[in-house]
Amino acid sequence: MCGIIGYSGPKNPLPILINGLSRLEYRGYDSSGIAILDGANLIVEKKEGKLQVLKDHLEGKHFNGNIGVGHTRWATHGVPSDLNAHPHTDNKKEFAIIHNGIIENYSELKDELVNKGFNFTSETDTEVVAVELSSKWTGNLLQTVTNVAKNLKGTFALVVTTTKEPNKIVAGRMMSPLVLGVGDEEVFLASDSAAILEHTNKMVFLENGDFVEIIDGTYKIFDINLNEIKREVQDIDWEISEAEKSGYEHFMYKEIIEQPEMIEKTLSGRLVENSIGIPIQLNEVRNFEKIWIVACGTAYHAGLFGKDLFEKVLGVPVSVELASEFRYREPIVGNKDLGIVISQSGETMDTIAATELLKENGAHVLALVNVVGSSLARMSDSVMYLHVGPEIGVASTKAYLGMLVAQLVLAKHWDIENKLNITFEEIKNIPKLVKESLECETEIINIAKGISKKNDIYFIGRGLDYALAAEGALKLKEISYLHAEALAAGELKHGTLALIEEGTPVIVTASQSHLLDKTTSNVQEVKARGAFVIAVGDDNSKKMEKISDQFISLPNAHSLLSTIISIIPLQLIAYHVAKLNGESIDQPRNLAKSVTVE
Ligand code: G6P
Repeated sequence: MCGIIGYSGPKNPLPILINGLSRLEYRGYDSSGIAILDGANLIVEKKEGKLQVLKDHLEGKHFNGNIGVGHTRWATHGVPSDLNAHPHTDNKKEFAIIHNGIIENYSELKDELVNKGFNFTSETDTEVVAVELSSKWTGNLLQTVTNVAKNLKGTFALVVTTTKEPNKIVAGRMMSPLVLGVGDEEVFLASDSAAILEHTNKMVFLENGDFVEIIDGTYKIFDINLNEIKREVQDIDWEISEAEKSGYEHFMYKEIIEQPEMIEKTLSGRLVENSIGIPIQLNEVRNFEKIWIVACGTAYHAGLFGKDLFEKVLGVPVSVELASEFRYREPIVGNKDLGIVISQSGETMDTIAATELLKENGAHVLALVNVVGSSLARMSDSVMYLHVGPEIGVASTKAYLGMLVAQLVLAKHWDIENKLNITFEEIKNIPKLVKESLECETEIINIAKGISKKNDIYFIGRGLDYALAAEGALKLKEISYLHAEALAAGELKHGTLALIEEGTPVIVTASQSHLLDKTTSNVQEVKARGAFVIAVGDDNSKKMEKISDQFISLPNAHSLLSTIISIIPLQLIAYHVAKLNGESIDQPRNLAKSVTVE
């Protein structure tokens, strides 16, 4: 949610900023801007619209200077516009600031500044900070920024430059992510390590309350009271090619196609008994009396899959919670509980707050996250990384699959009585099964043609298939803007059946053989009302094949693996419907990949 990039070093900052913004555009794409400092000359260029608008505007322009900052925005305060785009400056245009997060007390601060005679040109909370910096200037940028930060309420990653000290950048972090990339006599700043991976894989993940002073390509980290702090420099093993489209039209498509290879990485090193790759051993887990799985969006849907597995294997109740709800309830969490928090980015604000709640109440927290060094990874007691590489498409695909597989591996590791009745060999076969499942694409393109102009589409399933239906519907909504709804198939008759009419598409997955008869009856019910049924199954679901209008056939597998691979056609349906309708697949309207505000 808002992308930040910064550079200090010997090179020309402009191409570095623009490249970085391209990689960060998934975080927000309603406007973008840059500021470059060339001694006393502060250049600020910003434009409403996608990054391409700014790129076109800057075409052929050249700026001197060795310091620059850039921002891509996801609007919170004020509509997307040139004026509301970052960077923001003070009245004298001596300070330029970019910001990710929300300054909650901005309106009080703004009133005070207006009373003192300062002017504002934007509706943003960020401009208030720029004006505050100018009004509270002490003669030292780091000192001024920390003084101002002491009065800020809310969340921020702030990056500031000033003509008054033109060799410096000062940045600070409170809840919103900020990473420092350490190069050879150069320092980068970014909201996400993938944005600067092409320059360095040496990263410092700033903690809440850290402020960094960057001078001529070197850096020092301080707390808000200016005590110096040392933070570890970590090597990130992501390949830059993983963060690039590599010839594919969309990141989402590339991320769907590369799933077999990525899942191989999720599994690698973890599929041996007593595996060293599993962070919590069975004897520890056995002491837990309750498990809370907490997440948002796609990660929440992945958690619905884990619930059944963990309950079966461990015999303890598992509650799957939406982080945005959980954090404001008074859940009965205690020190005999295990929290499993799931997140691709590891930076989702609601999941972070829910994790804090779990920890405050004494629960042990295990994070399943993709982004190495992310906030959730650092604040949790144990971490299991998904290892699916950077995910750029806003609609999550490979990370979701990674979440399912990671939970299966965890459950298998704890399943000494083999209650899941699945072997390590079968699990090792997942990448191959995913690869074979991708072969249904041509058929999916035809299906997509049939449903791309429909207004309402229903996804139904029972048990684990309901968890899949929820994710299938979300994918379609996110990128195609069609109304899609997921239903536990048995619930149809309690209301939604009233909406089924001639030609209404109903997509059903039937991976749970023990529920096949029941789901088949529900399919009969919608068929009787005229629904056009698209079913996903394998040789075990012949009954479903007979009554459906279109049947997507997947390879035969253990029922848990059938569930996992059944998401592939659902991802492809969403992708091809959106493509046929000409939608902006990697950057759907109103959404952002990493939601670092409430
Ligand atoms: C955003 C994304 C979703 C994602 C959710 C949770 O809404 O658009 O795709 O599922 O955040 O993100 P996380 O990084 O915590 O998995």
